[in-house]
Amino acid sequence: MTATEYTNKLQEVVKNLQEALTKAETNQEITELKTAYLGKKGHFKALSQQIKDIPRTEKKEIGAVLNDTKTQLESLIESALATQTTTTQSWVDLTAPGVKPKLGHMHPVSQAMEEITHIFEQIGFTRVRYPEVDWDWYVFEALNMPKSHPARDEWETFFVDAPTDEKMGKMVLTTHTSNGQVREMERLNSKPPIRMINIARCYRRQQDATHTQMFHQFEGLVVDKGITIQHLKGTLDYFAEQFYGPGTKSRIRPFHFQFTEPSFEVDFSCHICHGTGYLDTKEEQKCRFCKSGWHEVGGAGMVHPNVLKAGGIDPDEYTGFAFGWGVERTYTLKEGLNLDDIRLLYSGDLRFLTQF
Ligand code: DAH
Repeated sequence: MTATEYTNKLQEVVKNLQEALTKAETNQEITELKTAYLGKKGHFKALSQQIKDIPRTEKKEIGAVLNDTKTQLESLIESALATQTTTTQSWVDLTAPGVKPKLGHMHPVSQAMEEITHIFEQIGFTRVRYPEVDWDWYVFEALNMPKSHPARDEWETFFVDAPTDEKMGKMVLTTHTSNGQVREMERLNSKPPIRMINIARCYRRQQDATHTQMFHQFEGLVVDKGITIQHLKGTLDYFAEQFYGPGTKSRIRPFHFQFTEPSFEVDFSCHICHGTGYLDTKEEQKCRFCKSGWHEVGGAGMVHPNVLKAGGIDPDEYTGFAFGWGVERTYTLKEGLNLDDIRLLYSGDLRFLTQF
């Protein structure tokens, strides 16, 4: 059978049900039609089994049409039942609860971004957005990573097949939100104070249970006179308590990034074992959620003088701190979430999404 023949058959089933429903007069008749069309031995089931006869190359497309047909059949029955109850009753029970229309809600990742934005706005940060397809210069070069610098290998980059600019270099899909740092300095004409929170999509060539090719990061940047590591640590502690709840602590460990000096990795204390690594006071039972008492979320550090210079800011006059983490990673560490496959967030599966 060809895909077109199959699609015609599917359309015919929908049409037949439509016609049959115009003749159905009672609730029972509609319910019988439901069984005949959508039941285990119904028309839809029989048709869906025939998909095996469709050539392999067309199967994916046809699968979507098949799903669509099912939804159409279901909503025909649903609305027939709804009209039935309203038209056949000779009296109206005004106290009966109404039929609730199905409402969607914000995607969990959008919810997380709103929450993060709100937390930082409380302490004077401004949410900004910068291009998600950007020049090599903003993504790497201005961040103290000259062309062919080995540190670039950290980011498995998608390059865009577009003409190269002499100064800006190639176009890339942003591998991190750090591209916003020098862009923000430019937006403010190199005049601190800067308190930026940049949340955007990022892209890397990676895909497994804890990585997706597209994900989100949020990047903080603060530049002013006299900014020190203490300001960074204070901001991290504030975020930890606001986002994960009172008592959550932050910890910074020495690390290396090209665009910060010194650089750190940032951890937050585990909400299950409260940073101890154990579930009991005798320290016999290890916490399985974190193993060490802490969860690593991302990087941070004091803005490298070369980055300030790239943004036209005098590093002898100003200092700053920056941090950048994954939104999905930060979010899935929240109490009660314990999500073991990050890809679920992008599955579009309502059974998953309606839980948030
Ligand atoms: N851009 C880094 C990454 O994606 C994370 C990062 C580290 C951002 C240190 C920062 C920073 O702003 O200071 O891996």
